[in-house]
Amino acid sequence: MNISFSTVDYMHKEIMDEMLDKFKCVYEKGWFISGEECAKFEGAFASYQNRKYCIGCGNGLDAIMLSLKALNISKGDEVIIPSNTFIATALAVSYAGATPVFVEPRIETYNFNPELIEEKITPRTKAIIVVHLYGQPAEMDTICDIAKKHNLFLVEDCAQAHGATYKGKKIGQFGNAAAFSFYPGKNLGALGDAGAVITDEEKLAEIIRTLGNYGSIEKYNHLYQGNNSRLDEVQAALLCIKLKYLDKWNKERQRIAQRYMNEITNPKVILPNVIDDVEPVWHIFAIRCKDRDRLERFLGEGGIGTNKHYPIPLHLQKAYQELEIPKGAYPIAEEISATELSIPMYYGMTDEEIQYVIESINKFE
Ligand SMILES: Cc1ncc(COP(=O)(O)O)c(C=O)c1O
Repeated sequence: MNISFSTVDYMHKEIMDEMLDKFKCVYEKGWFISGEECAKFEGAFASYQNRKYCIGCGNGLDAIMLSLKALNISKGDEVIIPSNTFIATALAVSYAGATPVFVEPRIETYNFNPELIEEKITPRTKAIIVVHLYGQPAEMDTICDIAKKHNLFLVEDCAQAHGATYKGKKIGQFGNAAAFSFYPGKNLGALGDAGAVITDEEKLAEIIRTLGNYGSIEKYNHLYQGNNSRLDEVQAALLCIKLKYLDKWNKERQRIAQRYMNEITNPKVILPNVIDDVEPVWHIFAIRCKDRDRLERFLGEGGIGTNKHYPIPLHLQKAYQELEIPKGAYPIAEEISATELSIPMYYGMTDEEIQYVIESINKFE
């Protein structure tokens, strides 16, 4: 049996006619940037997220970077981020001109260990970026308390967690701003690059929108040295359709995850630990195994696609050698990098396929 690590095929087959009709409609309208479709999606997503404002932009990296810039974060500032995340979280800090400061995750949840945040706060710290990694909400009560106590901005990186909830509240409602990626493989994915920021703060929303539009509110009148990062009409229109199905698609991921949690029993494999009162959306189902590379080969030989998130931790990436952080400095991030394996997780997996993945993992010796 061949099972890919991830595919959008089943989602796309279900909504193909709707998507093609909408594409034709935008095509015929002939307006492609910042128009009706964009406003419609922004309204729908803000309402789904229960936030006042949504600002579409080019991608998830820009969504974080524009949020930081709008919060006035710049050269000389420090921003606390997890040591275990996709590089975009760190790059957004760097592009804003600030320095990323890493905090280790808990090995059990792969998310920020809030107990380690305060020791990294200095007079230069301006913000914390919390990442809901792999679709698992982070420990928001404690993180919000720390941000408040130290008067720090809080930005949520929700790129992997569309629709996940913490104590019944959707993630993205906890920080000053929350950034989303709609990269095609995300739980809510466009057919190209796209992103958005949500916030309840009117002024912040206005600055983010202006920054993403060349720093301009009025044509050829530029308030800031902004970027070109706008959501286009085609992506916005297609995202609007997909948003209607997001909860259904997430439920299916949750069903698959539940089966993995209940039925993967191999003692060599460590399952993810879910904290109380949260509903993860399982963008990635991350298991750990001391013998990860052998498990990866074993599953690959059985036709099962896997992936690693992420094989090199941020502090050891060549891109961040300027930080001069030695190997061993973030042992938990390094341990996750060395042992994590992401197994198939997508809407449309059949019971036979789920069963085959479970049995194959349980057979690994
Ligand atoms: C945690 C995280 N943050 C940010 C991003 C950046 O999103 P994009 O690829 O849309 O720029 C990603 C994308 O993979 C991500 O996983």
